[in-house]
Amino acid sequence: MLEELGAAGGAAPRVLDVGGGSGAWAVPLALRGCAVTVVDNSPNALAALQRRAREAGVADLVTAVQGDVDALADVAPVGGADLVLGHGLLEVVDDVEAAVAALAQAARPGGAVSLLVAGRYAAVLARTLAGRLAEARAMLVDPDGRFGPGDALRRRLDARGLRTLLEQGGLHVELLQGDGVLEGWVPGAVRDGGPSDTSAVAELESLAVAEAPLLDVATRLHALARRPR
Ligand SMILES: C[S@@+](CC[C@H](N)C(=O)[O-])C[C@H]1O[C@@H](n2cnc3c(N)ncnc32)[C@H](O)[C@@H]1O
Repeated sequence: MLEELGAAGGAAPRVLDVGGGSGAWAVPLALRGCAVTVVDNSPNALAALQRRAREAGVADLVTAVQGDVDALADVAPVGGADLVLGHGLLEVVDDVEAAVAALAQAARPGGAVSLLVAGRYAAVLARTLAGRLAEARAMLVDPDGRFGPGDALRRRLDARGLRTLLEQGGLHVELLQGDGVLEGWVPGAVRDGGPSDTSAVAELESLAVAEAPLLDVATRLHALARRPR
């Protein structure tokens, strides 16, 4: 994927990580040789990002910019990125359609956009299994998949909704898969167990990712889309 993104002349791939927070994705990508710009509206998150990038020895490859996805073009050039990330972003923004349009515009023609977003049905199932039936019911009937005004998220998406949102934003969806398809359902004691448990969970997860019927119970949905040339 990163090789495919490589800019002409072997330059470092340009990644724009919107809502990149403290660098959970930006720093590993910089370690793989990408030039990463993180746009986030939280100064605290950006300070943590800069610390993390320094500690990892990639401060020269990571640029922190305070800004809002609502006005992304003010801080990041239109068409300037080989890869745009919006991980954990769509569920917290006010205007999700505008956010997708801004992410799409920030990618160069032919560039990629990667989205990770909270899955609606996993949240319904989790509440049901916990016996929180009123919340499960609310999430099922609410158009945004929220359990009420106290919900920290603005929305949760299902696979069909995410695909529609991206296509309406002018993107071509190349991959739509689960993230934490079964992993999220493994009891903590097993997930945090020894190395053999960890590898069994990883194997289960890698098999589950390819199973279409399990997509909608994934904790998070991952889409990789492309801006047309
Ligand atoms: C759940 S965190 C995700 C962090 C990181 N992308 C990750 O996957 O670990 C969401 C981030 O989006 C930022 N954020 C929320 N609303 C934003 C907005 N309107 N514009 C830019 N960043 C925003 C928050 O400050 C936070 O750092």
